[in-house]
Amino acid sequence: MKSKINNTFGIDVSCRRYIRLCSTQEAQETVRSLADDDNPLLVVGKGSNLLFTQDFDGTVIHPAMDRWGVCANESRVLLACGSGMEWDSVVELCVRNGWHGIENLSGIPGDIGSAAVQNIGAYGAEIKDVLRSVNVIDLQTRTGEVITIPATDINYGYRYSRFKDEWRGRYLIVSVSLELSTTYVPLTEYGNIRKTLNDRGIESPTAMQMRETILDIRNEKLPDPKVTGNAGSFFMNPVVSREKYLGIKKAFPDVPHYDVADDNVKIPAAWLIERCGWKGRSMGRAAVHERQSLVLVNKGGAAGREILGLCHAIQADVAKRFDISLRPEVIII
Ligand code: EPU
Repeated sequence: MKSKINNTFGIDVSCRRYIRLCSTQEAQETVRSLADDDNPLLVVGKGSNLLFTQDFDGTVIHPAMDRWGVCANESRVLLACGSGMEWDSVVELCVRNGWHGIENLSGIPGDIGSAAVQNIGAYGAEIKDVLRSVNVIDLQTRTGEVITIPATDINYGYRYSRFKDEWRGRYLIVSVSLELSTTYVPLTEYGNIRKTLNDRGIESPTAMQMRETILDIRNEKLPDPKVTGNAGSFFMNPVVSREKYLGIKKAFPDVPHYDVADDNVKIPAAWLIERCGWKGRSMGRAAVHERQSLVLVNKGGAAGREILGLCHAIQADVAKRFDISLRPEVIII
């Protein structure tokens, strides 16, 4: 157990072997060379959506391919990015060049490869809206061949993809292709975006103004993982039946909610957690963030198991009080 594994929770964990890949060719050769290797494999980008509860007794592969290429006509732009490119640098690149569609996803930590695994989303946008395909190498067959998987085969949903489910651990993503537009259509309807723009005297924001606004809104509420260990939202927002929602509304007429298909309702997990009295509370070195109760933080030196203990305590309280089971969004290892 020697090499440290990077993760934004700041948990001190190691693996047996750590391999950093700088090109697709290097990725192909490495996967081929592991054909007869029995050690478990784990692909880790920036570790921004992972909670490690123990050391990893195997090999960690870290994709660090960060080259990009573009192909455009008058209205559309096809951008291919190495999976190790930092997501927010992709957003910045696009905003600077007038390639539109991901401005509202500014400031999300992690690499583009992980963004494609978890279908990152924020402020009314999701990566699935612009993702066209990913190039992968199969870690089961280990032939080293690069395969293109179109977005339509990935079954994207709210914080969901086949990579998190039936394909978990199967593929190494080497690049991600996005299709962007040369026309900017601002998405201003989510949460307090409109209000924040109004406060700044901006009626029709440019893409750069939108990016800056989103970054400011995020910075106000979300802890910077470089300062305080965290993995963004720890839980998904639960979808419940309208019947259950109406039951909660009786007791709490102000319960926030969003209607979703099939007569279901999404209730913010942050609200449920706050109502259970967890906002800002600590359990050992793990805590619930004081400004956004959906975010669990490492107060310094926490073990992954302490964060998991806090997760379980919150789940138990929310289940007891509201009869709703909260599902982690973060992948627990
Ligand atoms: N709320 C509370 N208490 C809090 C925070 C929020 O009651 O401490 C309530 C408020 O009523 C608020 C509502 O929850 O109106 C929704 O809050 P917010 O708009 O901040 O969004 P969220 O549902 O908590 C989701 C995503 C975030 C994303 C934001 C903005 C999930 C799991 N999380 O959070 O994504 O940034 O919307 O679009 O869907 C992430 O995935 O890591 C992440 C940060």
